[in-house]
Amino acid sequence: MQKILLIGPQGSGKGTQAEQLAKTYSIPHISTGDIFRQHMSEKTELGKLLESFVNEGKLVPNDVTLEIIKERLAQDDCANGFLFDGYPRNIEQAESIDVLLENLEMTFNHVISLEIPRELVIERLEGRRTCASCGKIYHIRFNPPIIDGICDDDGGKLYQREDDTIEKIASRLETYYTQTEPIIDHYREKGIVSEIDATLDISEVFAKIQEVL
Ligand code: AP5
Ligand code: MG
Repeated sequence: MQKILLIGPQGSGKGTQAEQLAKTYSIPHISTGDIFRQHMSEKTELGKLLESFVNEGKLVPNDVTLEIIKERLAQDDCANGFLFDGYPRNIEQAESIDVLLENLEMTFNHVISLEIPRELVIERLEGRRTCASCGKIYHIRFNPPIIDGICDDDGGKLYQREDDTIEKIASRLETYYTQTEPIIDHYREKGIVSEIDATLDISEVFAKIQEVL
């Protein structure tokens, strides 16, 4: 049973790799960012609260995020494994998820750290486009759709994320290096971390992750 955590800076390719990994291993892809954007697009009460954090590139408060994760983990499809992308994101969240999993007699068996220098992620994020209906991720140069602005899978319109502006990218990366990166050491102590070179092509990164799994 695969219980995977994908970790890496913004633009390292977590969402891109997660989509393929989830299909390959038939496990759910749990992305807090995707769940939040879903609430925002549906304009739920929670969605309105989330906007001021997510669109500004700031972390959503831990208690709000933990509730969402608890609900998601309780769903039946998580019984045979899962892939987390974007949670945990600070030490407090890592401690919370460790306890949650322990109570379910589970633990992550792989933490995949996608490694990429800061300089390379800006171009990836500025050129990212996402399908408004299914969430599939594209890049205008590195992974373009067949028809400009249209999702290959479902014909949905592609949009640019509000937090993918130079200023917000800088602040998100700052948060990553100060709050999220230290989690890798937390899991290194448990001997479950594998480092992957995320500067390679999408298919090469995928092959390297598969070797580890
Ligand atoms: P989230 O949605 O998780 O965004 P993020 O962490 O900023 O990460 P990204 O989605 O930007 O990067 P990615 O690694 O997934 O890259 P991708 O595969 O798309 O979170 C958004 C916000 O939600 C947060 O800022 C926060 O407000 C809130 N939030 C979420 N979780 C939270 C939590 N736990 N606690 C509190 N708040 C939380 O790839 C990027 C681009 O590069 C794409 O265009 C892709 O096509 C391209 N690309 C990918 N791989 C390659 C490659 N190998 N070569 C060339 N191009 C590539
Ligand atoms: Mg993502």
